[in-house]
Amino acid sequence: MADKKRYERPVINKHYSGLMNKFGSRPTTAPKTEIDGVPVNDLVKQFGSPLYVFSEKQIRNNQRNALRIFKTRYPKVQFAWSYKTNYLNAICNIFHQEGSWAEVVSEFEYDKARKLGIKGEHIIFNGPDKSREALLKAIKEKAKIHIDHFDELYDIIELTQETNLKAQVAIRVNLDVGVYPKWDRFGFNYENGEATQALKRIMMNKNLQLIGLHTHIGTYMMTAEAYRIAASKLASLARFLKDEYDTIVNYIDMGGGFASHNTLIGQYLPAEEVVPSMEQFAEAIASGLYELNFKVDEMPTLILETGRALIDDTGYIISTVLANKRLSTGRRALVIDAGVNLLFTGFWYKHSINPAQDSGVNIEDTTIFGPLCMNIDVIRETINFPSLKKGDRVVIDYTGAYNNTQWMQFINMRPNVVMVMEDSTVELIRKSENLDYMLNREILPDKLK
Ligand SMILES: Cc1ncc(COP(=O)(O)O)c(C=O)c1O
Repeated sequence: MADKKRYERPVINKHYSGLMNKFGSRPTTAPKTEIDGVPVNDLVKQFGSPLYVFSEKQIRNNQRNALRIFKTRYPKVQFAWSYKTNYLNAICNIFHQEGSWAEVVSEFEYDKARKLGIKGEHIIFNGPDKSREALLKAIKEKAKIHIDHFDELYDIIELTQETNLKAQVAIRVNLDVGVYPKWDRFGFNYENGEATQALKRIMMNKNLQLIGLHTHIGTYMMTAEAYRIAASKLASLARFLKDEYDTIVNYIDMGGGFASHNTLIGQYLPAEEVVPSMEQFAEAIASGLYELNFKVDEMPTLILETGRALIDDTGYIISTVLANKRLSTGRRALVIDAGVNLLFTGFWYKHSINPAQDSGVNIEDTTIFGPLCMNIDVIRETINFPSLKKGDRVVIDYTGAYNNTQWMQFINMRPNVVMVMEDSTVELIRKSENLDYMLNREILPDKLK
């Protein structure tokens, strides 16, 4: 027998005059009832709501696709997984199984990569905050240390003198690529000669082995041309090293920053239509690097620290409707059980949100709020959405990047994270937090008992 049709109560809609955009006012809100073939309802039944869900298949596809795209344009390519984008062990290990190294920006991330069995020489140690202890560990373990500033350079010089060890180093370079504001707070500046100064000092020091050049020009970059300019500028530094010191760098690391397919708040067209494709980014980088007139076997390896473009579209949040409301303006509002504590990227992305069940045709402009008792907990300011009931579910798309590292334990605890595996089984990859977990860290002084 056919499924019973869903009852929709009659509603009177206020009509608004004014401009529609060229797509009309009814976006697609087709129900998303499963993730990689696993029903959303089953996931919630087993693991609760809200729930983070990752797709193993999509992660592997993204990484393989990106590697293929770059390798067909440039012969030597090495990816290094950007831990800060998502450092859940299960996620990191998929990237490592696919051949990626680790790119870390703190001692904590460094130690996490080491615990996952990544050798020092396969760790790229970036970031402005490296303690002397962390540097010493990295030197001993032959990690690739990307120097951010002169004070760090001096620390490394002292440490190598004290221990008589050699450090494997590169410098981070910031450069003008025509995108503003410039990210000039990290690394040494190219245009004012600071980067060349740093290279000269490194080359003078017998304990420092210069192995690469690095830049990370920004994040969610919407122009591929910026990468061509950056690659070309790093290529000119590599030429300088060859001409002046007869040194050929092993690699040029172009960092991360490729825009993912999430649409920014305020962006008119969907991201898919406005951001460059991976092919365009690859084309731009390769043409910048080919300005090097080195022999084939002298061409440096291209390292990429791509984060969001590899992981954003592999993650989802399933959330449950807590309440329906009418705001004082008459606008419809929904309160769901996932807030900005779990969806930090909701502050700058218009995440696509779909009901997880057939939800009728009564589409209305809606604001979606999270469950937190604070005014800024808004998941979507405005979305044309069908009417949902308490207990209905929604799926928030493309939540894979930064949300599991920038999430907040605020008011509520962090929920379960699961992964739908390639064989369609579902694995718990991070357990929800509970009161014991929280209280474990707290100390109540005797005087206050
Ligand atoms: C040094 C470095 N590399 C890689 C990344 C990853 O960037 P994205 O996620 O934009 O690709 C970042 C993030 O800001 C970064 O700071």
